[in-house]
Amino acid sequence: MDKNYHIDPDIRKASTLPSEFYRDENIFQTLKDKAFCRFWHLIGENDIVKIPKQVHPFTLLEGFLNEPLLLTRDLNDTIHCLSNVCTHRGNILIENPDNVRLLQCRYHGRRFELDGCFKSMPECEDAINFPTGADNLSNIPFGTWNKFLFTSLYPAVNFEDIFKIIDKRMEGVKLNEFIYEPMRSRDYLIKANWALYTENYLEGFHIPFVHNSLNAVIDYGSYSTELYDYCNLQLAIAKPGEECFKLHETSPDYGNEVAAYYWWIFPNMMLNFYPWGLSINIVKPIEVNLTKVSFLTYINDASKLDKGAGSGLDKVEREDEVIVEMVQKGMQSRFYNRGRYSPKREPGVHHFHRLLVKYLYEI
Ligand code: FES
Ligand SMILES: [Fe+2]
Repeated sequence: MDKNYHIDPDIRKASTLPSEFYRDENIFQTLKDKAFCRFWHLIGENDIVKIPKQVHPFTLLEGFLNEPLLLTRDLNDTIHCLSNVCTHRGNILIENPDNVRLLQCRYHGRRFELDGCFKSMPECEDAINFPTGADNLSNIPFGTWNKFLFTSLYPAVNFEDIFKIIDKRMEGVKLNEFIYEPMRSRDYLIKANWALYTENYLEGFHIPFVHNSLNAVIDYGSYSTELYDYCNLQLAIAKPGEECFKLHETSPDYGNEVAAYYWWIFPNMMLNFYPWGLSINIVKPIEVNLTKVSFLTYINDASKLDKGAGSGLDKVEREDEVIVEMVQKGMQSRFYNRGRYSPKREPGVHHFHRLLVKYLYEI
């Protein structure tokens, strides 16, 4: 990149990202490989391949990374995440979920074991120095967190290093008992750059201005942000009498009336814990000024669904969309370039911008 956007590590001195960042096609594309390919993305629950021989093709961040991948469970009951591209001439290997002993390409019949190892290829007896390791399907790193599977194409950071921070804080939360609720899950399309949507999420500063109903149930004064290397936590405390977590004595937050834990993992994943369960938000860039956000709802205690900070999430989302789409318009202005942070209220945004710039320019 020819321009280097510096974000001062001292938030008190720093300026925000320049408006060009949110309009620049080149930056948008560059971040695919520099940031998105290097961090962790949700595949789904581990029962996608529940028993040996099940195979499940999927596209990683469809519409953006578009990486064809394949989840398999081999005959030894081990899960693999593989490239779903045949190593012969590049056909998509498996098109639909299936139950198979071997993976066979339907173009010219090359076959692979369920762990991705090359098995056989017709008509290649005369090929010299064949097969080699290059004929195996690439094994893609993946991580398991409770019943959820994640993958990263070229991980910059150990999966466990991120998720152990969350586990430690959320001790006692039995994620394997959370049930996916498709009726309460949906996608939103936002006419704005994915980073504008994300940075809006990363501050509670706008809550009193933009979200009147959310502001009515949380204590804005004590709203706080904790920064970790590649993730951060926004902690919302409930107003007296509002719905909050019944925390175990061993929880670091025991004694506090926690209304919500808002975890963000760089660059585009949010894990929002409410007393009723978990809302996973995946921010999917589509175009430089178009973003899809998937809300995946996992319920633990349905009786708490429409109470406290975890209620009315659709309205909160629409309120966020309106403001974020306005900011995208502001990014077109000839009279706006960069702003300044509130050191008290915007450390999460500063953290995000620092990570973006770090990976944008890292070789
Ligand atoms: S592309 Fe798969 S066998 Fe030819
Ligand atoms: Fe918001």
